[in-house]
Amino acid sequence: MKRVLCFIFCTILIFSMLTVANAQTETKLIAMTFDDGPSKYTVDLLNGLKDRDAKATFFIAGNRAGSNMSTIERMVAEGHQIGNHSYSHADLTTLSAQGMQNELNSCRNYLVKAGGEQTYMVRPPYGSYNQSVRNNANAPLILWSVDTLDWKHRNADTVYNNIINNAKDGSIVLCHDLYSTSVEGALRAIDTLKSRGYEFVTVSELLRRRDIPIENGKTYSSAYNKGVTLPPSVKPKNVEINTESVMGGKKVTLSCPTKDTSIYYTTDGSNPTNTSKKYTEPFLVTKVSDIKAVAFTSIAGDISSKKVWVEPAKLPGLDYKDGVLTLAPADDTTVYYTTNGSAPNDKSKVYSKPITITKTVSALVRQIGKADNTITYTLTAHGDLLTDIRADAWYYSAISDCMHYGIMKGTTAYEFSPKNTVTRAMFTTVLYRLSGETQSTYNPANFTDIKQNTWYSDAVNWAQTKGIVSGVSGNKFAPNNNITREEMCTMLARFFTSRGYEFALTDREVFVDASAISDWAKTSVDTLYRAKLINGIGNGIFAPKNTATRAECAKLSVDTYNSILMFE
Ligand code: NI
Repeated sequence: MKRVLCFIFCTILIFSMLTVANAQTETKLIAMTFDDGPSKYTVDLLNGLKDRDAKATFFIAGNRAGSNMSTIERMVAEGHQIGNHSYSHADLTTLSAQGMQNELNSCRNYLVKAGGEQTYMVRPPYGSYNQSVRNNANAPLILWSVDTLDWKHRNADTVYNNIINNAKDGSIVLCHDLYSTSVEGALRAIDTLKSRGYEFVTVSELLRRRDIPIENGKTYSSAYNKGVTLPPSVKPKNVEINTESVMGGKKVTLSCPTKDTSIYYTTDGSNPTNTSKKYTEPFLVTKVSDIKAVAFTSIAGDISSKKVWVEPAKLPGLDYKDGVLTLAPADDTTVYYTTNGSAPNDKSKVYSKPITITKTVSALVRQIGKADNTITYTLTAHGDLLTDIRADAWYYSAISDCMHYGIMKGTTAYEFSPKNTVTRAMFTTVLYRLSGETQSTYNPANFTDIKQNTWYSDAVNWAQTKGIVSGVSGNKFAPNNNITREEMCTMLARFFTSRGYEFALTDREVFVDASAISDWAKTSVDTLYRAKLINGIGNGIFAPKNTATRAECAKLSVDTYNSILMFE
């Protein structure tokens, strides 16, 4: 009895050991590789591989990549591996280190565009390599153990037979996707070998499952079965992108339901790879962003994406009177502020009642789920309140004076818009105000695009009568065109002439771009430059065709105003 029990026990033990051993040894793997493509036959090959659920590795010729990018992208999308076969199929052993890197990088650039795992193994053309190739490849060198000689025979049966007769568990098979005969023979061989229990995997997967370390500069021509076969790579599930409203924006959390993955992501809408930013902890998004994320095991999962909407916190309503600033913070916002010009933060005073403003108030507006927003309230030198200029700006005093003298007005109740452009109608209006004329007693201007009783028609009527404006062409004034710097000079010089000023008209070429100044503007530009009313934009450049900003217009108008005060 004892003996029988022991026998049964041993049988069970041996049987279960055999089962484990079988599970490992029964897995038969082959890596099919296709060189020199893509070609017009590659799509047929991809269709055939898809039908058979077989993965392959494509060593791409760089000079065929550019016109076949969609095919290469499809390889990546369908789980095949792409590798580097140099740009022009050069024998790398004949090249200098620099030449070798040029050949490999020119091809690699296309592979990077297509994505895939970013190692890009190298198959040296002709299988030709030496120590210098090993040193410069910056990648593992992949050779083969079965050569189909498909390029020589161009016969599907030969390709089929060469694979069937020579391939074994762990083979790397060399074919070329340049020939229809190669595609046909390889697919038939895959059918036969699958029926014999073979699994078709990429080179990376073959080496990984045979537990062979992959190192740059090392050569690999097979991964025969030595009793170790690891389980297949698990394709990770999609990354889950979750957002939560927090103070200052949205907090983004990434997670993958598949265990032991690394997550990589981008926030600018580009496709992430395993060289993108690696996710380690939740991060804050402070503007509208396109988040894309992908998980990697030893292979990549699919990319997930999510648009995250983050708007700036709403600015408070505003009322200003006699040195007292009254704010109306929007619901759920907190307004922090300083009065000494320093940047406010969440330790600064919280707005609760009207503030006496002497020069400036800087505010930080915070709200859950919204990006931090800032605004600066600045009194001009004459006590007007503006939210879009700062006391240290070069145009601060010009804008202060301009508004005070009524030469230019704000664009809204509390904005001057110093960076906005100036139209021809606006500048004409500024000159009209500088002239001090207020009576609309001038004949309607005979420009076909000037309607009477518009905000600028009195000014244009006056300016044409005084010979200050002469229109653009075809009897048009183009009131809404942005005024150029040379047009502004010309109108201003004529403005002075109309007031009886006599200039020593000159047209010295003082600016390095003097030749770019239109003939009709040359004397005006030089004259105003000598009168110190205008200047270049720096480095001796005048930039005659640049448009002027409202800040520049303010400076010029105030200087003109002061000249008139001084001389009249
Ligand atoms: Ni080749």
